Amino acid sequence: MNTPGRPKNSHPLDAMCHALDQSYEELSFLHRLNDKMTLRHNKNDFFPWLCRELAGVLQVEIVLALRSALKSKGLAELIASEGSAQPLQGIIDLIWSRTVKESQRTGICLLIDAIKPGPARFVWPGGLRNILAAPIGPCQQPSAILVAVNKRSCNEFDAFDARLLQSVTADAAVYLENLNLYRDMHELLLGSLGALTRSIDAKDPYTHGHSERVAIIARWLAQKMNLNSEEIETIYLTGLLHDIGKIGVREAVLGKPGRLEHHEFDEIRRHPRIGADILGGIKQMAAVTPGVLSHHERFDGSGYPQGLSGRNIPLTGRTVQLADSFDAMISNRTYRCALPPDAALCEIRRFAGTQFDPDIADLLLTCDMNSLKDELRCVTQRVNVTPGTAVIMQN
Ligand SMILES: [Fe+2]
Repeated sequence: MNTPGRPKNSHPLDAMCHALDQSYEELSFLHRLNDKMTLRHNKNDFFPWLCRELAGVLQVEIVLALRSALKSKGLAELIASEGSAQPLQGIIDLIWSRTVKESQRTGICLLIDAIKPGPARFVWPGGLRNILAAPIGPCQQPSAILVAVNKRSCNEFDAFDARLLQSVTADAAVYLENLNLYRDMHELLLGSLGALTRSIDAKDPYTHGHSERVAIIARWLAQKMNLNSEEIETIYLTGLLHDIGKIGVREAVLGKPGRLEHHEFDEIRRHPRIGADILGGIKQMAAVTPGVLSHHERFDGSGYPQGLSGRNIPLTGRTVQLADSFDAMISNRTYRCALPPDAALCEIRRFAGTQFDPDIADLLLTCDMNSLKDELRCVTQRVNVTPGTAVIMQN
């Protein structure tokens, strides 16, 4: 390994300037990295972004991010890269095993392959001059490995490079651990709310699976609107939880066959507000609550509970309201049989601009629904539907 960043035969002042320059680059990059490692960023962008940044800061030809093989038969698989990874595809397992072995041997979680012979000197297949690699997570069982290959200008990796990669992998390990914990907590929360929703749907044999189907239709519509992944997730959750307030409505009213009395209808009309109150107490559901509150508003202002109209109704509410109505039309109910999909679409067209947002209705009317039909059938088959109670997309 070279003396940190010191070009050969240079003046000491030049070397100091070079070292300062490298330190500045390193600090600047670590600042960007800390900003990137927040839960609000899309985790799918993380490794491609990291490879791109590292290739620039370390001044190398190629950076790879590897993880333990999940899909392939080998030891490791590529999850992101910068530069041409093609020549390295055949030696990914070799890089993985040598890095893990060397990290275990030295205990410093780092493999540096210098040009000069040394204890960490390996022979690599053609084209590879030098490699710097560090595991993310425990040396014995890393969750991923970052690999920098071929210093530009035929330099060797130096102590700056090694220290930088170690800082990055240490930070990334904490970030990925936090991400996993966050994902587990999020899934636990969704699992609990989903169970609650299913138990409400189960109060009425005619609405089994309704909330999940509404969520799927709403997400399908959101995808057609080209929203970002966070907005699509919010609309999906709003669909899943839209009727959660029915927990505060008596079962005798929810499942009553035939027409409802006025006071019973008033009781039903309270469920958007009850749902919003329930979710209002959960910080993570802040984006979902407005859609739950407004999923019975109508575009012309004749809905409830607030009588909002047009774009004053949150997009989540307008989307779920359409999805809710469409699923209700294509499912059997106590008071009527399911409409065939074409007849349901005619109803959507008839009420676009009055009951429904015309732009969202247009998405349902003009897009190919084959993928949506498949997803809805899966829900119907999964839930324990009383024979003859749900007729989804039979055509
Ligand atoms: Fe509702």
